[in-house]
Amino acid sequence: MHGIARVHPAGEASRDPRLTKLGEEPPWWRSTTVYQVYPRSFADGNGDGIGDLPGLIGRLDYLADLGVETLWLSPFYDSPQADFGYDIRDHFDVAAEYGSRGDVRRLVDEVHARGMKIVFDMVLNHTSDEHPWFRESRASRTSPRRDWYLWREGRRPGGKAPPNNWKSMLGGTGWHYDERTREWYWASFLGFQPDLNYRNPDVKREMLGVVRHWLEVGADGLRLDIFNALFKDESFADNPFSARPFPSEDNPDGFFQRSKHTIDHPDTFAFARELRVLVDSIPGPPRFLVGEVFGSPRALRRYCGDRDDGLHLVFLFKTLRTAYRGPAVRALVEEIEREFAEPLHPTYVFGNHDRPRSIHRLGDHAGRAKLMATLQLTARGVPFIYYGEEIGMPQHTIALEHGKDPVAARFRFVPDWLARPLRKIGISMNRDECRLPMAWDDGPNGGFSTAEETWLPAHPLYESINVAAERRDPDSILHCYRRLLAIRRETPALHAGSLELLGHGRGPADVVAYRRVHSRGSVDVLLNFADGDVTVPVGAAGRAMLFSTHVDAPPRAGRTLRLRAHEGVILAR
Ligand code: GLC
Repeated sequence: MHGIARVHPAGEASRDPRLTKLGEEPPWWRSTTVYQVYPRSFADGNGDGIGDLPGLIGRLDYLADLGVETLWLSPFYDSPQADFGYDIRDHFDVAAEYGSRGDVRRLVDEVHARGMKIVFDMVLNHTSDEHPWFRESRASRTSPRRDWYLWREGRRPGGKAPPNNWKSMLGGTGWHYDERTREWYWASFLGFQPDLNYRNPDVKREMLGVVRHWLEVGADGLRLDIFNALFKDESFADNPFSARPFPSEDNPDGFFQRSKHTIDHPDTFAFARELRVLVDSIPGPPRFLVGEVFGSPRALRRYCGDRDDGLHLVFLFKTLRTAYRGPAVRALVEEIEREFAEPLHPTYVFGNHDRPRSIHRLGDHAGRAKLMATLQLTARGVPFIYYGEEIGMPQHTIALEHGKDPVAARFRFVPDWLARPLRKIGISMNRDECRLPMAWDDGPNGGFSTAEETWLPAHPLYESINVAAERRDPDSILHCYRRLLAIRRETPALHAGSLELLGHGRGPADVVAYRRVHSRGSVDVLLNFADGDVTVPVGAAGRAMLFSTHVDAPPRAGRTLRLRAHEGVILAR
């Protein structure tokens, strides 16, 4: 390919020892594609207006047909549902509204029967304040479980001021005063989610037991909730000042303090290595751990260990803040390749149950959504697709005062005139907006439920944006995902190859191009982020066009290729 010069030296497939030295395939989790199901919103099997496990089981054929290989389920454990499952009351039981332990086993079997894998969510950092451990812990200062959570006396006079200046992840002090025992307990997130004390060996043992239990039930991987908050500094010293008003996906400092003593503690990195040893010791096929952590790629790779002996994967949320422009996307891929070079392995995440839907950031533009899907499914790394992304399900504005999300309740004081512009820059204080029921068809509730009323309403455009409608339209976002998932699965270069960014040379700045290199064949990916057509030279004429976001693309390229606005293509080499 001339005109698009190489930035990195030619990569031989053999430079990646894990992939090709012994002619071995990489472990499955390195080449898999993950689809996140938010159980409450996916499919309602019993008509109570809330999604559940039997409902999900009934939709597994859809997911298998779509071509995703691994499902990640947000928590389904017993919980008061104050944070919809991220507040666990019993780690070994299943919330009645989602099903039973038997349903979990059936789900695991049904997923495996389709040749797919399943990942459970582990909320290690905290429990619900209704967990029996916390009830015991708060009962008295001398309770045997007092030390299972983080209790401290307040500052003088009278202990009525929090023990130090630490802020929670949502701003404001993370300390909560307990009248009965006149001490404060620490919660990294919301007050009803008290943090466990991992310096207590009994806590650690119990929670490692929880991890082991769900792996033995059959989870192929675990997603670790706010893993970066696990260990707090023993000194309980104040956090230093920072000029940053808000934390962001790529920097946890904010609310005018550095998170020095509360986030990314060295003991958390050490714990990641301990968890890795545990997970690797479970008999059977390899399992993986993916951490929810926040920071720059360079900061986050510390969770993976110096010798790839920590978490297998971490979410890289910088993707969420990357502008839809060629130079920005190119810089992102470059940074990820640099910081997560082999043997580390990156992730590509464009949405989840906490963040505005990806298509919202793209101006609800189907063409842009297809191009981003092409990036996500052709770059080197594990893609995490959030349910509904594959049909371009929109974000739906819900006023803070109507929010069911506890974060919306926490920010109810924020006036609408302020919430609106914040939403525009991607800050949504009401996570209901991205958690609306999956739209399956144009029937009542978008086919999600037969109930009169569902826990959140169907999105307003469900009559046209739904699975059934997009199945009928060969040019839909859904078909674009299906085609991409299929070609990724069939093409070793795409699921197991190395990545070389191709320089612009004479090419336009808004085209991002890279080569995926593998001993069993290489491919080039070209992504046009411009609003108009661009022509790029692609070397020899006649290269097969393996994929285009545009269904009317020609089967072969000439010596040059005309890419239309938002077109992404995969060319054989
Ligand atoms: C994570 C979850 C989020 C939850 C929070 C507290 O960020 O993704 O949904 O509210 O942790 O567990």
